[in-house]
Amino acid sequence: MKPNLENFPDKSTIVISCAPHISPYLKAELASLNFSTDSEAATSISLTGSFDDCIKLNLQLFTASHVFFLIDQFKCSTLEELYEGIKKIAWENLIEEEGYFSVHSITNSLAVTNTMFLNVKVKDAIADRFMEKLNCRPYSGSDKDRTVIFVFWKDGEALVYLDTTGESLTKHGYRKLSAKAPLQESLAAAMLLSTRWDRKSTIVNPMCGGGTLAIEAALIAIKKPPGLIRKNFGFRHYKFFDENEFKLLEKEVADKAADKISFTIIATDNDEHTLNAARRNAELAGVSHLIEFSNCNFENTPVPEEKGIVIFNPPYGERLGSVTELEETYKGIGSFLKKNCSGYFGYVLTGNMELANHIGLKPKSKKTFFNGTLECKLLEYEMYLGTKKQPRESIAPVE
Ligand SMILES: C[S@@+](CC[C@H](N)C(=O)[O-])C[C@H]1O[C@@H](n2cnc3c(N)ncnc32)[C@H](O)[C@@H]1O
Repeated sequence: MKPNLENFPDKSTIVISCAPHISPYLKAELASLNFSTDSEAATSISLTGSFDDCIKLNLQLFTASHVFFLIDQFKCSTLEELYEGIKKIAWENLIEEEGYFSVHSITNSLAVTNTMFLNVKVKDAIADRFMEKLNCRPYSGSDKDRTVIFVFWKDGEALVYLDTTGESLTKHGYRKLSAKAPLQESLAAAMLLSTRWDRKSTIVNPMCGGGTLAIEAALIAIKKPPGLIRKNFGFRHYKFFDENEFKLLEKEVADKAADKISFTIIATDNDEHTLNAARRNAELAGVSHLIEFSNCNFENTPVPEEKGIVIFNPPYGERLGSVTELEETYKGIGSFLKKNCSGYFGYVLTGNMELANHIGLKPKSKKTFFNGTLECKLLEYEMYLGTKKQPRESIAPVE
């Protein structure tokens, strides 16, 4: 798909943003989709590709936030120069006259004290161009559910991107009912990709809440990316968007997805209301037939003979439960892992390391993630079969 626009690049820089500490898993995802990367920063990865590649990425990535396509770059040191540069772009070939667009930006320019002024300047340039060319102009505002333009103005150079995503990809589109303290879907996927889970072994998820980890595991296992669930994307709102071509790309991705798994995913919670939300979310994601949900205290969660991983995202006092009550819960998690999960790798995501000490086991590794703004650790425990000298046959790390 390409607009009738002189200088619109066949191939250009694509910047994919993600949450902090997730870029290694995003990079691995890109490699598995055969995209080679040009550069990597803390919260983004750049590569070279086409607008259609942006569509494929939006459809297939589990851990990304936004996919940006660079359409122009020019030197500018004042807001007036920025206005002139933006106005030169033939926006009337990209945005419908009756359409809607929003502008977002980041800058380190001293000419701007608040990016709101910058956004308004860019909006004015686009609107003025429309008025001059067509004597009408699209609507504009701050909603990200239609055409979204992103301007990165740094060190005297403006980079103009189409945000081909629109509303963030961190939401995977299946969570319609609220549960307690849910994990962001892209974070849950990154956590799973960071573990030793090989995508074909048992997953046990006590305290499953809204089911995010179990649902992401099922989606990863059957290769059904969340883009197939989500209906709206920024790229759909360009004038040159071709629904038929898109359907072919979508079908190509959908055809690779399986419908069955040959291992067990178990998800439990002691709150019936939360569990119902999890079941409904799994239905919306199309994976309810792949997850065994049950209502029980975490200590009674069934653990199959066939080994794999046990993954917990317990309350940690910030949002749910008081810290003193939770000390007992964390002790119980340690006992559960020790008594019931020999031969498994255990994982606990917590934002409270004091509480984590009550687990009473020595973590093999600690990985940092951010749950919203809260720094959390994903602690890994290797639950040996018998003595430490005789470790069980390990499940292969995910490549
Ligand atoms: C932080 S939430 C999990 C959120 C989940 N990862 C998600 O993304 O929706 C913790 C969950 O633990 C459950 N829970 C707390 N104490 C429990 C216990 N003793 N046994 C089983 N579940 C428990 C709560 O009902 C809650 O749903």
